[in-house]
Amino acid sequence: PIMLSQTKFIHRDNLHYPFEERAMQFGDGVYEVIRIYKGNYYLMKEHIDRFFRSAEAVKIRLPFTKEELTNLLNNLIQKNVVTADAKLYLQVSRGSASRDHIFPVGIDANVYGYIQEQARNVTNLQDGVKAITERDIRWEYCYIKSLNLLPNVLAKQTASEQGAYEAILHKDGMVTECSSSNVYLIKDGTIYTYPATKRILHGCVRMRVEQFAKDLNIPFNEEGFTVEDIALADEMFLSSSTSEVLPIITVDDSKIGNGYPGPITRKLQRAYEEDAN
Ligand code: PDD
Repeated sequence: PIMLSQTKFIHRDNLHYPFEERAMQFGDGVYEVIRIYKGNYYLMKEHIDRFFRSAEAVKIRLPFTKEELTNLLNNLIQKNVVTADAKLYLQVSRGSASRDHIFPVGIDANVYGYIQEQARNVTNLQDGVKAITERDIRWEYCYIKSLNLLPNVLAKQTASEQGAYEAILHKDGMVTECSSSNVYLIKDGTIYTYPATKRILHGCVRMRVEQFAKDLNIPFNEEGFTVEDIALADEMFLSSSTSEVLPIITVDDSKIGNGYPGPITRKLQRAYEEDAN
């Protein structure tokens, strides 16, 4: 496999990082995950825009323009002859330098990106998944796709240990998002989700879900919802580049609605499939 390293292409075995690397020692960097369907990026522009926004927010200077990165990522698909469903992981760190909290001077950012095959999880998409609720203990700048994922990792692990797919996070009773996806509640035909403030990641799929809802004349309400509201939900679903539009059928061992994916979720799933193909 060929990967992107800085602005060059190298064989994956030839990637070597110094032991003092700011991504490893401080989580000092940002990343993206872009879905690939049949060898084509989905929502590429949205992801690249967010990658630049994240880097700018943490004052990391990227070694390319958006156009140059687009070309590099397209070349990466060609060099690996990707034709299947897959995903790209892309990260940038502030660089490798002698350990010091203060930004190093005269050091270039470190970029790498690689592609891995990933099939769509059709069973989950069809049947829906189980979720648990967890306190959102993350920092105030969750709109930045930061490499600091310890609270997300801990929440997802707790979910996994309880046989659940995701952890629904809440701050002061308000549901923000999940550990690695956005989350939505449907009540009386309206979709509710947390507003796109600094407290959540502005999901690229979330952006599309909002558009699908508009196209389908389904009200999309960004006032958010509470943990207590979950008991009254007709339907729930989550969204991300790897999970797509995924029905949630159980939360903390209580059924959502009748315990099966609901009709509005199904409409949004169909809209997603049409959009992604
Ligand atoms: N996660 N919220 C969080 C905290 C996320 O980490 C993600 C994505 C999303 C959904 O964003 P998008 O629709 O742009 O994929 C929301 C990626 C997939 C990951 O970390 O693997």
